Amino acid sequence: MDKNYYITTPIYYPSAKPHMGHAYSSIAADFFARFKRIDGFNVHFLTGTDEHGLKIQRAAEKKNIDPQSFCNEISQTFRDLSKTLNLSNTDFIRTTEDRHKKSVQYLWSQLEKNDDIYLSKYSGWYSVSDEAFYSEEEISEKNNIKICTASRSPVEWIDEESYFFRLSKWQEKLLEYYELNPGFISPKSRKNEVISFVQSGLKDLSISRKAFSWGIKVPNNPDHVIYVWLDALTNYISALNYPDTKDELFKNYWPASVHLIGKDILRFHAVYWPAFLMAAKIPLPKKIYGHGWILSGDEKMSKSKGNILNPLDIIETYGLDQLRYYLIKEVSFGNDGNISQDRLEDCINSDLANNYGNLCQRVTAFAEKNCSSKVPENKNFKEDDLLMLNKFTDNLSTIRIEIDNQNINFYINFIVSALFEANKYFNDQEPWKKKDDKERLDTIVYTSLEMIRKISFMLYPIIPYSIEKALKIFNLKPNAIDFESIGKHNFLKSGDMINKIDILFKKIEKKDD
Ligand code: ME8
Ligand code: MG
Repeated sequence: MDKNYYITTPIYYPSAKPHMGHAYSSIAADFFARFKRIDGFNVHFLTGTDEHGLKIQRAAEKKNIDPQSFCNEISQTFRDLSKTLNLSNTDFIRTTEDRHKKSVQYLWSQLEKNDDIYLSKYSGWYSVSDEAFYSEEEISEKNNIKICTASRSPVEWIDEESYFFRLSKWQEKLLEYYELNPGFISPKSRKNEVISFVQSGLKDLSISRKAFSWGIKVPNNPDHVIYVWLDALTNYISALNYPDTKDELFKNYWPASVHLIGKDILRFHAVYWPAFLMAAKIPLPKKIYGHGWILSGDEKMSKSKGNILNPLDIIETYGLDQLRYYLIKEVSFGNDGNISQDRLEDCINSDLANNYGNLCQRVTAFAEKNCSSKVPENKNFKEDDLLMLNKFTDNLSTIRIEIDNQNINFYINFIVSALFEANKYFNDQEPWKKKDDKERLDTIVYTSLEMIRKISFMLYPIIPYSIEKALKIFNLKPNAIDFESIGKHNFLKSGDMINKIDILFKKIEKKDD
């Protein structure tokens, strides 16, 4: 079985500082990366910044800085954010790096060699905000301004010499590929949208610009820079040292397991990228997963709309894991979601402080008093105990399958119900009334501790810092976490010390309480 896993986030435009939408994609990708790692996979996890094109050039001009210095500064804030979010990425790519530029120019030369590129003239609409070409049918008018109907961003007319990629040639091959690989575009709801776009007829794609210079030069024609999306998409392989296909990174990790993206950039990933790859005779990624949008009101939260929520503010007020947990739990993965401070506070109080935090506190305090701060014996599990413990054993393979379907909702619901059941179990078993039946008392405590351990292991990909703290109860370090062991009932060794830990999550005093 292939034990290598390669997951990517989009590479973000450093045209302005990162916002909650970027944090959301990155946290979701980190969740999968961490899960796969605790399940024994070698994980390569890539994120980075997309630094060329007119959008960036104009943003730099506005600030009166040269584009490279402008990118250096803002790219750094994205890199800092990946630390702040505690991302476990193994690489961070910038498209202004040499390793990337070489790779893009090589890919171009392959497309050219295979007769997929020709020189002509582009006349049509272009959105700088989306860095996308749109057809007449995709354009409408709002307050006398031409906009792309779908993205609501303004478009401008372009008339210039341009190289074209023979996208039309790949239309049938793409449709065939979607048909043969039903999971390629996920979730299912996104697939039809892509298929009907391709079926409506693909025109050849303009892949170079002459009117500005901030980009990677077209080999042998320095008057042109390469279209920023052809440039950007290549990051997924340039980071694996393409074109050196014998390189360990490329050999181990290509094709990617999943490109995690927002649904706004589905067309680029599910149509253009696979067509470029087919043309260059490079295998296609296994999956493109387009998640939904974080909304602000009922609009997509975005820099250009000026309705952004700053993740740093939320983290400062509530804490990182609180934000990570909230985004994973409350935004149904794949769909759009509104985020609200009120729901965030509820989530912290009920799930993290009450259900998880209290369980840890209560059981350890009880074990301290009644089991001399040691993991007790588990001589005789009864049906009630096994019912609890087997929930994990029985669902091990289902959880793995659901993770490979990017079904975060299944995963988090499983945890929430396990937490509820574990608390109920401890209450119902009333170990405090079993002081004259030490064997039974011990078994209840042992079962409860095992439940805490199993749930903590599962929570690790979501709230890694807090779980690192929680595992001090058992003197365990994160590297001891192994998903497979969630199926075992006797992971904890009788006689080992149980440690008291500080409160994991403080309750928020709600204003309206
Ligand atoms: O499109 N809700 O970069 P970008 C959820 N450079 N996710 C959101 C979001 C929101 N409101 N806003 C942004 C680009 N995102 C290109 C990508 S990839 C080869 C090149 C997330 O800075 C989501 O993942 O506009 C979205 O696809 C991405 O940020 C777009 O970031
Ligand atoms: Mg965008």
